[in-house]
Amino acid sequence: TAPTRYEAENATYSAGSTVDSDHAGYSGTGFVNTDNTTGAYVEWAVNAAAAGTKTVALAYANGTTSDRPMDITVNGQVVASGVSFLPSADWTTWRTVSLAVPLTAGTNTLRATATTAAGCPNLDYLDV
Ligand code: GCU
Ligand code: CA
Repeated sequence: TAPTRYEAENATYSAGSTVDSDHAGYSGTGFVNTDNTTGAYVEWAVNAAAAGTKTVALAYANGTTSDRPMDITVNGQVVASGVSFLPSADWTTWRTVSLAVPLTAGTNTLRATATTAAGCPNLDYLDV
């Protein structure tokens, strides 16, 4: 079945983040540009019909030449630590990183948190 798309601009995000639209190619009405700081995050409320492991895809752009790793938590538990969000060539080149995450039936909270002072890459959406 087709994934459900959760746009980053409709999610919650750390103070200092902005919803921007100055780099083309994003889905929806924009993307989230976090502060360049450790601990910056975007958090999505996602629904799962049943409990189990689900592969989700996080869309991002990283126009720098350095990795922007993030920890992924589900319902407050780290499920993937220091996941690489490698350079995507430029800010208008959007890529996805796929991850298998454990979800409970109903609403889950999935948060992507920057683990370095570079902050998050620009984040576009989460497909579940
Ligand atoms: C540039 C870019 C932003 C990006 C930022 C960053 O300012 O225009 O979209 O978020 O770099 O390095 O995080
Ligand atoms: Ca940024």
